[in-house]
Amino acid sequence: MNNNRKFQSLKLAVLSLFTVSTLLVIGDVAAKKPFSAAEKEDQMNMLMAAVKRGDDLWHNPGLGSNGLACGNCHPDGSATNPHTWPKYQTNLGKVGTLREMINWCIAVPMVGKPLATDSEDMIAMEAYVMYTHRGVAIAPAKDEQHGAVPVISGPGYPNANVGNR
Ligand code: HEC
Repeated sequence: MNNNRKFQSLKLAVLSLFTVSTLLVIGDVAAKKPFSAAEKEDQMNMLMAAVKRGDDLWHNPGLGSNGLACGNCHPDGSATNPHTWPKYQTNLGKVGTLREMINWCIAVPMVGKPLATDSEDMIAMEAYVMYTHRGVAIAPAKDEQHGAVPVISGPGYPNANVGNR
């Protein structure tokens, strides 16, 4: 075998090894077993813990400085339209995300300090608002016009009905 032929067969050998290992990897992924009932339950429990944490934050005036919480203006996550994000939002002045809008509401109507967008608190708030909208069709940029955001106080809400002024 001359050197060129040797090189060609070496190339072929390397290529076949690569192909076989790729197929093995793909095969392994394809063969991944469905989650067991116990695993699914664990995963759901972890999600519901995040939803609960988000629910608590939603009704916590401590995120802001004027006594209001999200729940005063967005009871049960209303008028937040998570299914329409990302979209152009005039207050953000760009195509933004649900998390950025959550931070806008913390910073502006609640006069608070925005959260890190990858913080556990932010993920929990997203989990809560998505969970309250489960089953709603995803509709990026859908124009959901709504009236004034209600401002509620009393049992279950922070007791500061200072309104959206
Ligand atoms: C004082 C009332 C008030 C509070 C408290 C408040 N918001 Fe808002 N929120 C608004 C108003 C007003 C708008 C509409 C802004 C606009 O369309 O320009 C809005 C819009 C939003 C939207 C976008 C809705 C859409 O489809 O454009 C999200 C998401 C949102 N708020 C989340 C939150 C979260 C999360 C909190 C708590 C951290 C919160 N808001 C607290 C008044 C409030």
